Formats: sequence, structure tokens, C-alpha cells
Amino acid sequence: MLRNDQLDQWDRDHFMHASSHLAQHARAESPNRIVTGGEGVFIEDRDGKRLLDAFAGLYCVNVGYGRTEVADAIAKQARKLAYYHSYVGHGTEVSIKLAKMIVDRAPENMSRVYFGLSGSDANETNIKLVWYYNNVLGRPEKKKIISRWRGYHGSGLMTGSLTGLELFHKQFDLPLPQVLHTQAPYYFRREDRSMTETEFSAHCAAELEKLIISEGPETIAAFIGEPVLGTGGIVPPPPGYWPAIQEVLTKYDVLLIADEVVTGFGRLGSMTGSIHYGIKPDIITIAKGLTSAYAPLSGSIISDKVWKVLEDGTDEYGPIGHGWTYSAHPIGAAAGVANLELVDRLNLVDNARDTGAFFNQEMKDALEDHPNVGDIRGEGLLCAVEIVEDRANHVFFDPARKIALQIVAEMVNRGVIARAMPQGDIIGFAPPLCISREEATHIVEITKQAIESVL
Ligand SMILES: Cc1ncc(COP(=O)(O)O)c(C=O)c1O
Repeated sequence: MLRNDQLDQWDRDHFMHASSHLAQHARAESPNRIVTGGEGVFIEDRDGKRLLDAFAGLYCVNVGYGRTEVADAIAKQARKLAYYHSYVGHGTEVSIKLAKMIVDRAPENMSRVYFGLSGSDANETNIKLVWYYNNVLGRPEKKKIISRWRGYHGSGLMTGSLTGLELFHKQFDLPLPQVLHTQAPYYFRREDRSMTETEFSAHCAAELEKLIISEGPETIAAFIGEPVLGTGGIVPPPPGYWPAIQEVLTKYDVLLIADEVVTGFGRLGSMTGSIHYGIKPDIITIAKGLTSAYAPLSGSIISDKVWKVLEDGTDEYGPIGHGWTYSAHPIGAAAGVANLELVDRLNLVDNARDTGAFFNQEMKDALEDHPNVGDIRGEGLLCAVEIVEDRANHVFFDPARKIALQIVAEMVNRGVIARAMPQGDIIGFAPPLCISREEATHIVEITKQAIESVL
């Protein structure tokens, strides 16, 4: 095994990290953590520190770390057939089986699954399919895509554009011109403080309609949204939001892409966020919880309505020009099958609902009277604690003070990983779906201690 100091030096000298301050990392001005193992809800690092991972990696290790069932399925598939492609009618037993398992778990009227490797590439696929769909239907001008400010849909060229967070646009010449952003359903940060939640939902739908009309409905192809805003702040929709949005989309013949990369396969206490909120999407994006990140795999679940047009398109224009070498990779598919079987066998969707409700309630009981806690919100095993400087007057801290980062650093010192969400002083929680009540209570206690030590 490499010595710690050697590994540290190579990390600083040769490894480009995602979403990191590159210069500070290279100069060793920011801490690194080299992770070596994991078991259940815990990870262990190179220094032997054991940490309760209350964010499941990047809300993805849903079945928890160290599951031999998934590891064994991957090894078995690698020995039998490590790779075959999915071009021109080829496939593997395991990827076909997984497609069937996914459609069985999806909302009704879903037809086919196209597999990719990441949430980003799945959303790139989705936008290409939407453009193809409108071309086949003879509507070449219907191409613009609407997403929400604070939405997160990936960091590719199109998906980084769809992502409504400034950090992902700055210095990258994004967003691309085909992308428009509308109001986030973020009740806590609403401008008009007098609005009720239901009024705010209607307001969001009215803003969307205004944008569609001003751009021309004949130019708007699709709307993309996460059932619960994730990286933008972990914000469940206010009551009435999704029905109001769906009504506007139907009125102007705009497709709906539900980005379920975080919410798919149980996190909200339902199999999908679409089922949870009664959303009727035309395409669904899945990744993370599909394999619990034991192998990279994503997917686009395509509705009957869209699929029919794609079929008509290939009858007219020939084979569809879309594919990755690693689409439907059998090792990822083997991880997916074993993972979904485990989700069922361990009743993790029910645990996300029950332990999630318990966790959110404990967080409220512990922190809702704290003068610097402005909002505590969540659904299933998602939770956010939003920190404010002045609760009565709704004043936020100067972002330069990085209050949430200080709090999560204090939590790590106490053995718990939470995430300072990228825009605002928001502490995010998305633990593995196998978490117990005792572990949930421990996270709440550590959060309280850390907030009290910083503020
Ligand atoms: C809702 C959502 N969509 C898409 C993505 C992008 O997925 P990936 O990072 O696998 O490209 C993410 C990643 O966090 C996400 O949360």
C-alpha cells in the first residue's frame, strides 16, 4: 500500500477533482479525504477515521456501503461476459432483464429504457430525443427547453445549461441559447412574503405560462424538473405545484421530463417521485439509486407517446443516430438488477418513508426554535436545514462567511458527513435508505452541536 504522504502528494500533483477549487487543492490549502472503505452508512478514510455518511456519497449509495450481494453480482457478470454493446439490435440478458424491472417500477404508460452511464448523459439523451420527436412531427421550430433556476440536471454542455446554478455556467459560456429558466418552487425564498403555499404554486405556474407565451408556444419543446429540487437546496414542491405545472404543459403541448436521478428508486418513500406527486412525465431520467452507485449506470425511461414517434422516425429516416459504446454495459446492469432486488428484499422504500418521516421530525424538534434556523424541510430521506442571520426579518448571512461550510466542517470533526449545498447556507441530508432510527437521531444530535458551536 502507498504511504499516506506519497498518496497525498500524487493527489495534489496529478488528480483533477470534480467541483473543487483547483488552485487551493494543488497548493494543499484545502483538506483532501482519501476514502478506503465503507460498511452500511459508514465510510472510512485513509487516516482510519470512521464517518457516518449522511449524504450517501452524492445521494446515491442507497443500499448502503459494502453490500456483497451487489459486489458478487458484478464479479459474476465480469467473469461471464464483461462487455457487449447494444448497437444494431445487440444486447445482453442482464440489461434486458433490468429494462423490464425498471418499466415494472415506473409510472404507467412507460415503454422503453435507453441506458447511459451518468445522470448528465441521460439528460443529454433526453434532449436529443425531444428534438428528434419534434422533427419527426414536422415541428422543427419547437426546440427550446425550460428548466428551473436552482434545478440540477448535470454538467455537460446541454445539461450544464439546464442546471440553474450560476457556478455551473460561469466561465463556460453557458447556458446554450436553446435553454430558458423559470421560477424555482422555493417557497421559503419567495419574494412576496404574503403568499400562501398554494398561491405560490399558482404563481410558479403563471410564471411558466408567461414565459411560454412570450417565447411563443410553438418554440417550446419541453420542461425539465426534479420532483424535489435537489442540489439547488433540497426543496420539496409546495402543495399544488406539480398539478398546476402539468396543466400549463398540457395546454401548450410541451413535453415533461421528470429528472428522477435523486428521487428514483425510493428516496422519497415511494418508488419514484412521479408516483409520489402524481406527475405524468413523458420521459424520466434515472441514475444514482439505480445501482446505488456500485457501478456507473443511468437511464432514460421513455413513454409510449414519445416511443411511438421515435419508431415512426426510424421508419422514415432509418436507424437513430444515437449511442454510446458503454450503453447498457452488462456490469452496470448486473449491479442494477442486484441493487433493485436488494431494495425490495430490505423494504428500503418503506424505510425511506418511515425513518425519513422520523428523521425530519427529529430535526424539527431539535432545531426549529433555534434563532438561526430559518427553515427545516424534507420528504422521505431528504432533509435540509437552512441557516439565516435574522429569522424574523428573513435576512441571510453574507455568502462570504460560508456559514454552512463551517457547520458541516464541525460535523465532520464530530464524525458525520452532511453537505453544504452550493447556493445558500443550506445543510443537506440524504443518508442511505437503510439508515436506522438510532443513526438518524445521532445525525440530528451532531447537527445541533455543530450549529451551536458555529453560531
Ligand atoms: C437531479 C440530477 N440530475 C442529474 C444529475 C447528474 O448526474 P451525474 O452527476 O451522474 O452526471 C444529478 C447529479 O447530482 C442530479 O442530482
